[in-house]
Amino acid sequence: MDTLFVGQKIIQLNEVASTNTYAINLLKDVKVLEGSVIIADKQSNGRGQRGNLWLAEPSMNLTFSCILFPSFLNASNHFYLSKITALALYDALTEIMKDSQHDIKIKWPNDILVNNKKIAGVLIENNFRAAQVQQAVIGIGLNVNQENFGELKATSLKACCTKTFSLKEVLAIVCKHLETWYLKLRNANGYSVVDGAYLNSLYLLNEWEHYAADGQVFKARISGVDDSGKLVVEMENNSLKKFDVKEIVFP
Ligand code: BTN
Repeated sequence: MDTLFVGQKIIQLNEVASTNTYAINLLKDVKVLEGSVIIADKQSNGRGQRGNLWLAEPSMNLTFSCILFPSFLNASNHFYLSKITALALYDALTEIMKDSQHDIKIKWPNDILVNNKKIAGVLIENNFRAAQVQQAVIGIGLNVNQENFGELKATSLKACCTKTFSLKEVLAIVCKHLETWYLKLRNANGYSVVDGAYLNSLYLLNEWEHYAADGQVFKARISGVDDSGKLVVEMENNSLKKFDVKEIVFP
C-alpha cells in the first residue's frame, strides 16, 4: 500500500452485516488508527443512500469503509468529504482504465458513473463534536468483477474493460487517491481546488434536462452544489433552486 496512513491498517472480514456499521461500532469500543480500512468479502446488509440496500456479489467487488478523523473540518463543511471521496474514485478509475476510453462522471452527490452506468456508490457517516467533524466513516462500494446487474443501470471494471481485476490492487489505488485528496483538503487552499475538480467532473453540469420534484416534472440545468451539499439548479425562468438528495429525481 503506497500511502502514509489510508489502508495501512486493514481489517479483513469474510462476512459482516455492513462494514460501515462495523466501523461505527469499532469506534465506540477501541482506539482506532486514522486511515484504518474495514473490508468484507460479503455484506449481508450492505447499506446504501436513502435507506436503500447495497447489493454486491460476494468476493467479486470492493465493499469497504475507511475511518478518518477530519477534526479540521467544520460540521457545516462535511459535504467536502463526499466531494473528496468522489474525486478519489474518479481518479482511481481514470488510472485503472487509462488504456481504454471511458466517460467517467461524478453524479451528485457522490455516485460514480462510467458510460452513464453506476460503478460505485458512497455512504459517509459522520460523528460531530461541537462544530467539528470528529470521526468519519467513508463507505465505498465499487463494482469490480461482477458481470450481471439484472435490471440495474450499473456496471463494473470488468464489464467496461473485459478483464478481471485484482481486488487488492484496486483497493490500493483507491486508498492512494483517497489519501491524496484528503491531504489536499487539509491544505490551506484545499477547498477551492476540491470545488473546481468536483464541478469539472459533475454529471449533467450546465445541461438542460428534465428533472422531477414534488411530483412535478420540470426543465432545469445543474449550475453547482452549495456549501451544505445541496444541488443548485437553474430553472427555465433563470431562477435558482436548491435540492436535497431526497428532493429531486434525475432523468
Ligand atoms: C449508494 O447508495 O450509492 C451508497 C452505497 C454504499 C455502499 C458501501 S459498501 C461498503 C459500505 N458499507 C455499507 O454498508 N455501505 C457502504
